[in-house]
Order: sequence, then structure tokens, then C-alpha cells
Amino acid sequence: MARIRLLDERTANQIAAGEVVERPASVVKELVENALDAQAKRIVVEVSGGGRELVRVTDDGIGMVPEDARLALQRHATSKIRTAEDLNAITTLGFRGEALPSIAAVSQFELITRPHDQLAGYRILAEGGQIVAEGEHGCPAGTRVTVRDLFFNVPARLKYLKTNATELAQIGDILTRLALANPEVAFRFQSGQAQVFATPGTGDLTAAVAALLGREMAKELLPVDYRNDAARVHGFVGRPTIARAGRSHQYFFVNRRAVRTIAARYALEEAYAHLLPNGRYPVCILFIEVEPHEVDVNVHPTKAEVRFQRDREVRAAVYQAARHALGAALLIPGTEVTADGEVRVPDRAEEKAALQRGWVPPGAGRPGEGGGRAAPPPWRVSAGGPGGQTTAREPVQAYLPAGGLQAALAQRAAEEAAAAVPAVDLAEATLVPRSAEPGELIRALRPLGQVHRSYIACDGPEGLYLIDQHAAHERIFFERLYAAAQEQATAVQRLLFPLTLDLTPAQMAIWQENAAIFAESGFEAEPFGGNTLLIHGVPAGLGTDHVARLVCDFLDRLQEDQVAPGTPVTDRRRRVLAAMAACKAAIKARDPLQPEDIAALLSDLAACASPETCPHGRPTVICVSISELEKRFKR
Ligand SMILES: Nc1ncnc2c1ncn2[C@@H]1O[C@H](COP(=O)(O)OP(=O)(O)O)[C@@H](O)[C@H]1O
Ligand SMILES: [Mg+2]
Repeated sequence: MARIRLLDERTANQIAAGEVVERPASVVKELVENALDAQAKRIVVEVSGGGRELVRVTDDGIGMVPEDARLALQRHATSKIRTAEDLNAITTLGFRGEALPSIAAVSQFELITRPHDQLAGYRILAEGGQIVAEGEHGCPAGTRVTVRDLFFNVPARLKYLKTNATELAQIGDILTRLALANPEVAFRFQSGQAQVFATPGTGDLTAAVAALLGREMAKELLPVDYRNDAARVHGFVGRPTIARAGRSHQYFFVNRRAVRTIAARYALEEAYAHLLPNGRYPVCILFIEVEPHEVDVNVHPTKAEVRFQRDREVRAAVYQAARHALGAALLIPGTEVTADGEVRVPDRAEEKAALQRGWVPPGAGRPGEGGGRAAPPPWRVSAGGPGGQTTAREPVQAYLPAGGLQAALAQRAAEEAAAAVPAVDLAEATLVPRSAEPGELIRALRPLGQVHRSYIACDGPEGLYLIDQHAAHERIFFERLYAAAQEQATAVQRLLFPLTLDLTPAQMAIWQENAAIFAESGFEAEPFGGNTLLIHGVPAGLGTDHVARLVCDFLDRLQEDQVAPGTPVTDRRRRVLAAMAACKAAIKARDPLQPEDIAALLSDLAACASPETCPHGRPTVICVSISELEKRFKR
């Protein structure tokens, strides 16, 4: 007997819904894209319950006549392409004719629509994809789609959704991208009773950026416009000072479509290669324009990732665009602006040298002296040698982004310090011997003094011990903050002048979701209208210099933190926040220490639960054994 049969329309729609409609944010994306394709000038998006109770998108676009409205709910019904050839030159956001039937299949769905030249509107009501009522309906010109109880008939999907705040953050992120791509359209985004953002719709990108990302960020953007054979790249790149701990603020558009493009992302980050320390990511709002037939947007049903035919040229255009903007802002030493406005960016080798010149800490001598500086210190390249762990970056990256320029400076200083003392081959140096309990061992050390104002040298049972003062202090501070947060007993330093912080809608949603973690970790903060946060108090000892950066970095981290549902995240986040705060607050390499500071640092470190590493997993202490010393002295 034949076993193969065609699926009925409803089943097919449900399967398609699985691909197109992943979460409330996908509904918002599809509906807003339809409104944009319908040439709307004003789009209002209302959600409640993170979008699972209600998503409503109202536009003033061209509307549909009743026959079209009914057809729109059928699969592969689209007004945007007719034949497969049209696929080669798509200029609309939609073309599959899958969104409306897919969304209707998994919700309580209502479509009300009227073309401008019709007197009466039309309304269709569907439940789980079945039309249950339809007929004439009075309404303004345009279209309103209301989606209630998303996934009411797909419990498996419902379970998969995250908290309302997280879903809301995703919606905010997608809408931000759509609104940036369409500054000539006025967007209003409403969550429950609160207005999250509203863009003016004047066509001015800067005004849209200010409305969406905050005025502080808008001020730090550099305009970009560059063109080669294959592409035009325009928009903004951020000054290095506003680089983030994650990629949440990289907005790429290809032919006005918000996309993910690994090619462009790499090119952008390459352009910042020597301007940002490890773990910091540039901000950008970049529009890439290529011939429609030279880009494939048909890679995936939700059209998130695109592929360029002339990949190499497009990368080059992005790279050059960013380099010229950065160079023009005279951020790159050696950049020249000629009389006719032409910007000459130095090549990478020159630039690296220039930056290194700029970064030599005072009193550390000039490059070229000391010989060893040009080549990497031998212990850095020796694979697997325990000493190599002092610069192992990968595990650190995986756990926590590096701590900004200060940390980069500290690291460079540390590398130079190591390079300037070629006498000790640290490839042979061992970590603290495992025989002794680490706390006990540290208590037994006799401090000798500071080396390069970065390391504390000590005499100890197995030989010469070196303690990384920054890593050690980070460990101490981390354990204190974390323990206090767990017990909800963090000492708070109240600020005389509260700090205000402009957040993005997505960040604000994440802050709200994690307000308890901030509170128990010693941050006293409250929303201050719109997406502004007012900070009144910080954990004692943190200081106020890095607070804004720290809060933003932490929110960025959480935005990228994809946690499987059901995972207990509070404690993990508490730990990440404590580690980030510790990194900011800790004494740095190059900070001079008095003997009593050193004694206090050692005894605090000895009292730690895990004194042998910093919160990122780097060692705090290394040992150059007596036998290694003897070998070096050829005894
Ligand atoms: N907001 C809207 N205004 C006018 N027409 C719309 C709107 N939303 C959908 N449509 C019509 O319904 C059709 C089907 O929409 P959809 O299922 O999203 O598929 P697609 O956008 O891929 O064509 C569209 O091609 C368009 O003609
Ligand atoms: Mg569509």
C-alpha cells in the first residue's frame, strides 16, 4: 500500500510556522517588514507579556482589498514576486508568502485592513489558522494585525520561550534594527502602558540613532561613506571609547535589510585591530549597498545571514570605510589629511609601531633598546609550558571579556616587563607547587619588593615566587564581593551625585530582569524615565570611575548570554558581575605599592578560598624553582 501522502494545508502551515515563527520577536519582525513593504510612513508596535499575550502592528500603508486579505492567509501567497527569476533581484523585505499563514497557524489572529481608495475596510478573524469570522469593518486606511496568545496550540514552543523581559529585549533589538534601517518611517514601540521608544521619522539617521540608542552614544559615532567597485558602505562607526564587551551594538544592513554578516563583521573588527584591547568590540551602524543580484538573501527562511557574490571586495569596502573614518578622526597615529581632504591611513605595520611608541609606560625606556622587545618573549610561544599560562587568552575570553584599555595597558606593560628581562626562561618556571595548601604557602612567603611595579617578588620554600599584583587583588576583591552578594550584605557607597546612564531598550529590559542581582551586589539604581537608569550607590571599594562602563558591559554580556531554559542563572550572573567589578576595582600593574600594602595584599590573598588564580583563571603566583635558578647560573 502506498504510504506517502500530501500534508493538508493546516499541518503544512504549522511546520512552516516552526521555521518562521520562533518567538514573539519573529512575529514582530515579519509584521513590521510587511508594513514597510506596504510603504507605511508610521508604524506602531504594541506588545504585552513580552509579546506572548499580544503583538499588534498598525501601519498606514497601502492596505489590502478583501480578496487579497483572504489570499494573504494562504501559504505561498505573495504580491511581491511572480516567478523564480524575480528571486534574483528582490527589493522587498518579504517574498515567501509564508509569514501571515504561519503566524495565524499558531495564534489567535486578527487582520483589519483598508486601501486608501476604498470606503470600507475588511476584517478576518482566525484561530489556529482556521478563519472563524470575516466581513466589512470600519477602520482607518492601512493595516492592523493583532496576534494574541502566541503558541496557544503549540505547548512545546511555549515552554521554550524565555522570561517576558528576555523576549521583550529580543523584540526591542529587532525593532531597533528595523527602525535604524528606516529612519524616514516613524516607529512607536509600546510595551504595556510604557512607551519604549519613538523615532521621529524625518529621514535623519542621527536623530533615529539618538532616539534608539541614546544621545550619549550618538555623540560618539563617526560618519562613514566609502565606495568601491562592489559596494557602497555608509553609516557610522563608534569611536574606540564606546567599544562594548559584546557585539550587541553592531548593526549591519545589506540593501537596507538588517542582517547578520560574518564577512562584514570580521572586516569591521579587523579595522579596529590595534585600537581595541582583546574582548572589546566596535559599535557600528553600517549600511552596505550592493547590486541586488550580487547578494543572496535566500539562504535561510528568516533571512538572517546573507552571502555576497563578491565577498572579498565587500569586506575590503567595510574595512576601508571604517579605517578612513577612524583615521579622519585622527585616532590612528600617522594618519594624514592632505590639502584636498584625502585621508591617508598608515599601513598596519607603521600603525602598530606608532601605537607601541605611544604605549610605552613612563620610565620603561624606548623601543629598540633592550633588544628583546621586538621578538616575543620565548616563554610565550613555548607550547604547554606552565609559564605560558600567564598569557593564555582563550580561557579568559571564554569566561569574561578583558577589562578595557587599562587592562590592555597592564598587559602590555607586563609583556614588556617580561621581555626586558631575558635572563630568566620562564618556560621552566612552575606554578605554585601542589604539595602545600596554597593559602598556607602564600603565608610562608617573604616579600622582597616590587618588580616593574607589577609583580611582587618573594622568597619561598621552593625558590623565587612572583605574584601578579593585579590578578591577586582581583581575586581578593572578587571573593569579597561574591560572598557579600550571596549573603545580601554588600557594603554600599552612596554617591553624592547620582550617575545617569542611557541604555538601549534591550539593555533596559535586561536590567529590569536582573535588578535583584544588581541590588544584592551593592548597586542602588532605579529607572529614571525612558531608558535612563539612575545610580545612587555602588559596592564599597569600587569607586565611581568605571561604574557606567561596568553596568553597560554586564548588560551586554547578559544580552549575549544564551542560557537554556530552566538553568539556574542567578548565581552564575552574580559571579560574573563580581568578577567584572573586581577587574575594574583592582589595583593595576604600574601602581606602586608600599611594604605595608604588599603585606596586606599577601595576607588577604592567603585568606582566599582559591588564591592561586584570578577570577578569569590566570595564575596569581608563579614560582621559579631553585633548580631552575641553579641551571641558569650553570652551577
Ligand atoms: N501590512 C500589510 N499591508 C499591505 N499588504 C500586506 C501587509 N501584510 C501583508 N500584506 C500582503 O500579504 C501578502 C502575504 O504576506 P506574507 O505572508 O508576509 O508574505 P510576503 O511578505 O513574503 O509576501 C504580502 O505579499 C502582501 O501583499
Ligand atoms: Mg512578509
